Amino acid sequence: MLALTSDLMTHVDMIDRQHIVLFERINAVIAMGGCAACENETESTLRLLAAYTDKHFSDEEELMGRCGYGYIDWHKEMHRWYVAEIAKLQSEYAANGPTETYGKLLENSIVNWIVKHILTVDMVLAKHIHKLALKEESHHAAEAPHASAASPAVAAASANGEPSAAD
Ligand SMILES: [Fe+2]
Repeated sequence: MLALTSDLMTHVDMIDRQHIVLFERINAVIAMGGCAACENETESTLRLLAAYTDKHFSDEEELMGRCGYGYIDWHKEMHRWYVAEIAKLQSEYAANGPTETYGKLLENSIVNWIVKHILTVDMVLAKHIHKLALKEESHHAAEAPHASAASPAVAAASANGEPSAAD
């Protein structure tokens, strides 16, 4: 089962909150296991996973656009790959049930991939957001020493907590 352990936290509030829900959706699919008699339930947990993945990726991509992220196309390409793998998982289950192929797809493409994606690709994005937040904070501090509100871009990114990975 997946859990958002500290090493998987980006400290970008919106992203971390959505990763928790995404993990719950993946865990629900894992929990269905190889149940051949649970066809409707498994298909609906897969649909919920697909729908939430779409929502999370589109929110994350919208955030990248707002933050002027340079690697947006590269990151989007990864997202598209994952969406296609979920579709593959759904069609494998619909056609053949909980086969070994289905189990391997779930383990490698869905579970292992998302962990690796967060640890590498999402962390690059988080670092960009934290750097931007620091830059904007110091800009505001120089302009108006008593202003406490962050700019809309940074507030939207909601870079929670200390930017520990920033260099
Ligand atoms: Fe991502």
